Amino acid sequence: MRFHSSYGHKTDVINVLMRTEVAVKSRVAVGEGAIGNIGSILKQSSAGERVVLLTQPTLVETWGATVGEVLTESGYETTIVALPDGEECKSHESLLRIWTQMQESKLDRSDTLVAVGGGALSDVAGFAASTYLRGIRSVIVPTTLLAQVDAAIGGKTGINLPAGKNLAGTFHFPDCVIIDTETLKTLPKRELLSGLGEIVKYAYIESTIAEQTDYQPGPRTLYRVLSELLLGEGFSADSSAMLGIIIACVKMKMAVVGKDPYEGELRRCLNLGHTLAHAVEKATAYQVSHGEAVAIGLVFACRLATDRGVFNQEDTDKLVEMLTKSGLASEIPESASVDLIIKGIAFDKKRQGDHIKFVLPLRPVGSVELNAQIKISDFEELLKND
Ligand SMILES: NC(=O)c1ccc[n+]([C@@H]2O[C@H](COP(=O)([O-])OP(=O)(O)OC[C@H]3O[C@@H](n4cnc5c(N)ncnc54)[C@H](O)[C@@H]3O)[C@@H](O)[C@H]2O)c1
Ligand SMILES: [Zn+2]
Repeated sequence: MRFHSSYGHKTDVINVLMRTEVAVKSRVAVGEGAIGNIGSILKQSSAGERVVLLTQPTLVETWGATVGEVLTESGYETTIVALPDGEECKSHESLLRIWTQMQESKLDRSDTLVAVGGGALSDVAGFAASTYLRGIRSVIVPTTLLAQVDAAIGGKTGINLPAGKNLAGTFHFPDCVIIDTETLKTLPKRELLSGLGEIVKYAYIESTIAEQTDYQPGPRTLYRVLSELLLGEGFSADSSAMLGIIIACVKMKMAVVGKDPYEGELRRCLNLGHTLAHAVEKATAYQVSHGEAVAIGLVFACRLATDRGVFNQEDTDKLVEMLTKSGLASEIPESASVDLIIKGIAFDKKRQGDHIKFVLPLRPVGSVELNAQIKISDFEELLKND
């Protein structure tokens, strides 16, 4: 495994510039070895000389160190801070630590906060960057598949409160997101599969995104690419299709966020499968990870849509086969209480009286209805009969 920075030539810089009424701008660089370009990317947009680099204990000697070296070689005075691993870093204690470090390192508004890690780290980093000196530049280097295709893109930041996840946060668009596919090679299999859960979701919303934004699908839909891969050679960090899959997901998310940065309407398509997913995560005390829960939620949404006559059994069965072959569950774990899950759904943010605003898959795969009104009793019936 190379953690060194002697690469960069293969980087495919998408340079997607999002422009909206509020002048949201973000660039995304994607490629094998993209980390090697972080110095020049920073120089393009920043006059600053100092960087605070946040990373995690698992990454401090690998990808965190690589990014640190490239920044130092590029002339940036870099201070590395390792925050606690995973969800534990999304706390007010971390925020205080980051703010304090930025102040001690004398970061001013021309300087940059860099985060090298998973979605939990990019969430807290974005929050810190958006609030320090009323907002400084951030660059995110997502190192999990889930963060590369989802969490690091789109500007939502947050920390957890004792009462629940992501209860405090801001919208803050990173200056740049640098996605290096090499980082996936050290990722545990379970984390890779968690990312796959979100990727499959994108396959089920691609046509709706293409209809409502300037996103242009490739010659083969993501659904086709994925079904061939998952039912064929299988999914791994080395899959030759991986780079193309990540780019498709990033482009979709950028297109949606560019059109609806603050989750008015269209951005809700990204929540496909999430109503049940959040309830499953909570009912299993987060033993089921986010991406794993999204896969389960997606199957549930397809079943619900099939019952309502807008989707079909054959495609639902194919989805289950794709997930099962990859090693992802498609059913709620037996240990999770159905009553707790129903309770979780009933507390969903999208609840309106005895209905929930639900993203419903439609035929053919790729389209969704954004505002289907589903009775909570319909969820209950399907969950209890499952
Ligand atoms: N802001 C958003 O739009 C958004 C969207 C989805 C999820 N999220 C948030 O993202 C978080 C989940 O993110 P995640 O799935 O990336 O999990 P994570 O950030 O908890 O990381 C998972 C684990 O992988 C390790 N890791 C990271 N990169 C590695 C690598 N390259 N090699 C080896 N180990 C590595 C981490 O140390 C951690 O233990 C949740 O907090 C969720 O709320 C945010
Ligand atoms: Zn998600």
